[in-house]
Amino acid sequence: MSELVLTSKQGEIGILTVNNPPVNALSPGVPEGIAAGLDAFEKDDSVKAIVLIGGGRTFIAGADIKEFGKITSGGDRKRGPGLNGILNRIENCTKPVVAAIHGSALGGGLETAMGCHYRVAVASAQVGQPEVKLGIIPGAAGTQRLPRLAGVAKALEMCVQGDPISAPEALKYGIIDQIVEGDLLTGAIAFAQTKAGTAPRKVRDLTDKLGDESANAPIFAAARDTARKRQRNLIAAQAAISAVEAATKLPFDAGVARESELFQDCLFSDQSKALIHVFFGEREVVKVPDVPKDTPLIPVNKAAVIGAGTMGGGIAMVLANAGIPVLLKETEQAALDRGLATIRKNYANSVAKGRFTQDVMDKRMALIQPTLSYDGFAEADMVIEAVFEGMALKKEIFGTLDKICKPGAILASNTSTLNVDEIASATTRPEMVIGTHFFSPANVMRLLEIVRGAASSKEVIATCMALSKKLGKVGVLVGNCRGFVGNRMFGPYRREAQFLVEEGASVEAVDKALYDFGMAMGPLATGDLAGLDVGWRIRKEYKEIGDSSVRQPLIEDRLCELGHYGQKTGAGWYLYDANRKPLHNPQAQEVIEACRKETGIAQRAIGNEEIVDRCIYALVNEGARILEDGFAMRSVDLDITYLNGYGFPAHRGGPMKYADLVGLKKVYERVREFEQQHGALWTPAPLLKQLAEEGKTFSDLPAQPLKVASTGAKA
Ligand code: 3HC
Ligand code: NAI
Repeated sequence: MSELVLTSKQGEIGILTVNNPPVNALSPGVPEGIAAGLDAFEKDDSVKAIVLIGGGRTFIAGADIKEFGKITSGGDRKRGPGLNGILNRIENCTKPVVAAIHGSALGGGLETAMGCHYRVAVASAQVGQPEVKLGIIPGAAGTQRLPRLAGVAKALEMCVQGDPISAPEALKYGIIDQIVEGDLLTGAIAFAQTKAGTAPRKVRDLTDKLGDESANAPIFAAARDTARKRQRNLIAAQAAISAVEAATKLPFDAGVARESELFQDCLFSDQSKALIHVFFGEREVVKVPDVPKDTPLIPVNKAAVIGAGTMGGGIAMVLANAGIPVLLKETEQAALDRGLATIRKNYANSVAKGRFTQDVMDKRMALIQPTLSYDGFAEADMVIEAVFEGMALKKEIFGTLDKICKPGAILASNTSTLNVDEIASATTRPEMVIGTHFFSPANVMRLLEIVRGAASSKEVIATCMALSKKLGKVGVLVGNCRGFVGNRMFGPYRREAQFLVEEGASVEAVDKALYDFGMAMGPLATGDLAGLDVGWRIRKEYKEIGDSSVRQPLIEDRLCELGHYGQKTGAGWYLYDANRKPLHNPQAQEVIEACRKETGIAQRAIGNEEIVDRCIYALVNEGARILEDGFAMRSVDLDITYLNGYGFPAHRGGPMKYADLVGLKKVYERVREFEQQHGALWTPAPLLKQLAEEGKTFSDLPAQPLKVASTGAKA
């Protein structure tokens, strides 16, 4: 008997336990093990009913996602996950089979449970069809059995949005038959005994919840419309709707066949390759090769934030949201009052929108303790500094923290451009200093760039990585270079967007091309949102180290000189009405025309393809330089950074994965073309050239240690 599926008996009940840690994925051998167990129990006359349960922390978390890459790289469209055979085997079992669910029954896991005749679960369990998040659809009859159990509307919601539901909700919709109190196996056996000797109930035979065409038509139309808006360009979302629709129009087996076709189309799409890369990437970024998994963590039970401005206020909220008491320090009462008022307003908005209750808000507000002094800082386990961006001020503050904070406290800076090592040099404990670069608004954006200083200790790094998860953030460890990873790549991206306007493209055309590519916003509208003055000020500060012989974009600086900083002043690239709707800005247009004349560049019509290639390949080329400079460990770190901090579409996998999917040879050639047209700013990164010539991808690169000696970050 397979070790992946264990068999045992309790009285008249045969028990199949899936034993494939950590999540009991349906890897090769698991379906075969279940089939062999069923064969044995069917032959055993003493067995009257069967329980299928997961060993360890969960039921079955789905198909083995690693197998999908093997299938698609082999190009064999017929191979598929091949689970339908085993599910039919379970459903056709002559003895009642009961799935016993704890942890999660996801994807192929829920499909397996629905192949069983009955399902019971502990109240804490979750069930779902999350395949759409991997760019695929349920491929083992989930789109056919789920509407038969839960009805069309619920099945659509679960298959199209992909979010899991709780066991009590699953009970309400008929997906499970009973919630088990106490021990799951004991409860499942008791349930199975009530079914022993009865004719098994096959989900495929249930039709009463499938509705009729006239009732279903508006449901499907609305689902398609919503998916088009909320899951823009995602093929799998539309395919999932078509598959559920097939359940309502075709007999079961024909519906399964239709689902298989749609599944295959999705599986072989670039979108699925990209989203599977994201799934594993999100789990990869938390791993730091030279920081072992068992590195001791510093308990962060009390925190302090310095500066209650845009970032400090948001960071204090993030800490309070995670239940961590936080001191919030300002220099003046007025600034403190302003900061707190903003926090209160943000929380009140969430209460008004029903995200949480007034009681939750009150508890969170009570965790944020405003102060004008350093009293209490000695007890803080972690201090995050978020004052104005200036080295002298930051060093003064870190010098003070060094004197007053307890040994072992983490001293973090939210700087977006400054050299973390230089900041650390103001202390006698640089090993405790690190960058924690939150993104604005800090309480909303998921990305947290964790900047490793030359001396940052492994304990400090491991704690910040673990803390990011607790704070609901995606922590990515990056090197200490100018702009770190995200903003260093963003510079060339936004530069190209502006150059395109200088060369003849309209503001609207540039933004639309990138929006249609999938970006949450176009690059120029993003500039307006973040504030054009932020970059303007940084450019002024860095002017002395810039290379004046290199072409610089002109328009944003001119807009700032006129006081047009973007949304905050009601005008930037666009004009904004009271609802912040962007409108054409005739004054910006005058600035653009003047800049176009000044550059002397001949105006030309520029197509969408060039707009996208110029902007996205600028990201890719800079990303390649970051990798070869050693300021990122893996290309997937850049991808996860862009998905969580810059609105890059997940179904493209991130800029580096996108380039891999286009093919690095093609990307390299296009970059060479741009170099010939636009000069040295487009010199291909040597790493891009090398990989293109070797026929490799960024994903082929092994993880590398981060370069710790800082270069380029402003001292
Ligand atoms: N296949 C392969 N590996 C998987 C996996 C799967 N379905 N699910 C999880 N893993 C791996 C993870 O990569 C991770 O590996 P690592 O330790 O080497 O990094 C390990 O298992 C543990 O996973 P998590 O860190 O995510 O553990 P959590 O406890 O935080 O979460 C979970 C558990 C909720 C089950 C989460 O892992 C999850 O959501 N998994 C994916 C579920 C899913 O998408 N299922 C559908 C698969 S597609 C399918 O079934 C198609 C079908 O219709 C034919
Ligand atoms: P801000 O100007 O909104 O807030 C800074 C606050 O610090 C002000 O309220 C000021 O009164 C306070 N402050 C100054 N000196 C202080 C001191 N000695 N003690 C206590 N408080 C003091 O600035 P913002 O935007 O919040 O930026 C803070 C830091 O975060 C900067 O380093 C910035 O580069 C970085 N950052 C900013 C982002 C943004 O989008 N605004 C994004 C990511 C990082």
